[in-house]
Amino acid sequence: MVRLSGRVNGITSLTLGPHLSEWYAQYIAKKRTACEGTMQVIETERLTLRPFAMENLDVLHRMVSHPDVWQYDPGYERSWDETRELLVFRIGELHRHGIGRLAVSLKQTGALIGYCGLQLCLVDDPTYATPEIELFFRLAREYWGQGLITEAAQALGQHGFDTHKLRRIVSCAQRANTRSIGVMHRVGMRVEADPMDPEHRMMGVIERVARSTTTA
Ligand SMILES: CC(C)(COP(=O)(O)OP(=O)(O)OC[C@H]1O[C@@H](n2cnc3c(N)ncnc32)[C@H](O)[C@@H]1OP(=O)(O)O)[C@@H](O)C(=O)NCCC(=O)NCCS
Repeated sequence: MVRLSGRVNGITSLTLGPHLSEWYAQYIAKKRTACEGTMQVIETERLTLRPFAMENLDVLHRMVSHPDVWQYDPGYERSWDETRELLVFRIGELHRHGIGRLAVSLKQTGALIGYCGLQLCLVDDPTYATPEIELFFRLAREYWGQGLITEAAQALGQHGFDTHKLRRIVSCAQRANTRSIGVMHRVGMRVEADPMDPEHRMMGVIERVARSTTTA
C-alpha cells in the first residue's frame, strides 16, 4: 500500500489499494528514468519556472494567505506550518517523481509570483480510480489579469507532452472558480463537467496531438 500525504485533487491524503499501488510504483520508476538529467527550468517570454527551495517559504506563505487566492482551494487560510509542510512535500515530490510544482518568477524583477505544476492526481473512487496528471496553478493576487499564468501553463503543458511524453493532461476547478476555468480555455483545454462531481466542478482536458505514422 502507498500512502500519499498532501493535497491530491482535493483529497488531503489517500491510501492506494494493491492495484493502484503497483501501478504507482511502476509509474514512478518510469518517470524517474524519463526525467534523469532533465533540467527542470523552463523559460518563457516573461517568466522563469524552476524548482522551489525552502527559502521561498515566506514569499509563498504571503501569497497563499490572500483570501482571493485560497477562496476555492483549499477554502481556508493555511497556517505558516501547513504551508511549510506542503512546501517540503512538493519539493520532495518533484525530486521523487520528476514532475511536480515549479515556482514561477518574473524575469524582469526576479520576483516569485506564483506556481504552476504537473502533479499526479489519483481519485480514490471505485468508479473513477483513473490516474491522471493534473495541471495546477496559483498566482499572487497582485499579478492577476496579465496572462502570466496562461503563459506559464502553456509552457509547462508543452513540457509535459514533449519531455514527459504525457498523453493527456487534466485540470480541475470548482464551477464558481471562473478564473481557473478561463486558464483552462486559454491553454486549449476542452472544458466539461468533472465526472467526479458534475454539479459543482469542471474539468479541463488536453491531449497530445498524435504524431503522424504515415510517411510521404
Ligand atoms: C487561477 C489564477 C491563476 C488565474 O489568474 P488570471 O490572472 O485570471 O490568469 P492569467 O494570468 O492567465 O490572466 C488572464 C487575464 O489576463 C488578461 N491578459 C492580459 N494580457 C494577456 C496575455 N498576454 N495573454 C493572455 N491573457 C492576457 C486576460 O484577458 C485575462 O483577463 P481577465 O482577468 O479580464 O479575464 C488566479 O485566479 C489564482 O491564482 N486563483 C487562486 C488559485 C486557484 O484557484 N488556482 C486553481 C485551483 S484549481
